[in-house]
Amino acid sequence: MRLQLCTWPEVEAYLNRSTGIIMPVGSTEQHGPNGFIGTDALCPELIAGAMAEVLDVMIAPTINVGMAQHHLGFPGSMALRPTTLIAVVCDMVKSLSLHGFDRFFFINGHGGNIPTMQAAFAEIYAERSFRDAGGREPQVRCELYNWWRTKDVSKIADEEFGEAEGRHATPSEVSLTYYGYPQDAERVRATPMTPKLAPLGTIYDAEDYRRRFPDGRIGSDPSLATGEIGKRLLAGSAEELTAKYEAFLKEA
Ligand code: NI
Repeated sequence: MRLQLCTWPEVEAYLNRSTGIIMPVGSTEQHGPNGFIGTDALCPELIAGAMAEVLDVMIAPTINVGMAQHHLGFPGSMALRPTTLIAVVCDMVKSLSLHGFDRFFFINGHGGNIPTMQAAFAEIYAERSFRDAGGREPQVRCELYNWWRTKDVSKIADEEFGEAEGRHATPSEVSLTYYGYPQDAERVRATPMTPKLAPLGTIYDAEDYRRRFPDGRIGSDPSLATGEIGKRLLAGSAEELTAKYEAFLKEA
């Protein structure tokens, strides 16, 4: 169930059953010539939705903008500085913990968020540890799962795309969004890729990124993306993350 579509008495009732919550976190950044700018937020959101079909679980509003300064050379990309994203994550977790939520299961859609998210979790733990170790507030735990680093997703991506999976604007993530948003996929899917396989390289700032990776892709060929493959990726990732969520709630 989506927090945004619940009433407060429904949230109160949920908290009597469970104190876990799924927090999708993504980014709003260019995804090459045929990928949506919202790809990294849409993927974890779709996976969270699939998990909620089998679990009694609350889904928080998606953190739609992430640490993506390197994409700012492309129209439409948005970014939070690491310090801003840390503040956003800390305040969202703090807000929900005031009501009793204490297991925060983040599903991440953007590799660039990983170090910042880990730093945010460290801030959350530090705040409690410095103030009152052994106090009465719920002990919050946060875990970050990257949807594409699940066994099924790696296997399917390997079989279907091989080296064309690349690093950014991957055919896997584009496939998942094409499955979720088929009408929009129809509009952009046939965009030609030149060269077929994008260059690989290191990420620095936005100007340098645009020079090295002129169409936004890194190492990938997302013209291979299909909604049918996206459906399988979604199912595989949701199944594995559902098991991880259940284990996270049971953790001693
Ligand atoms: Ni992405």
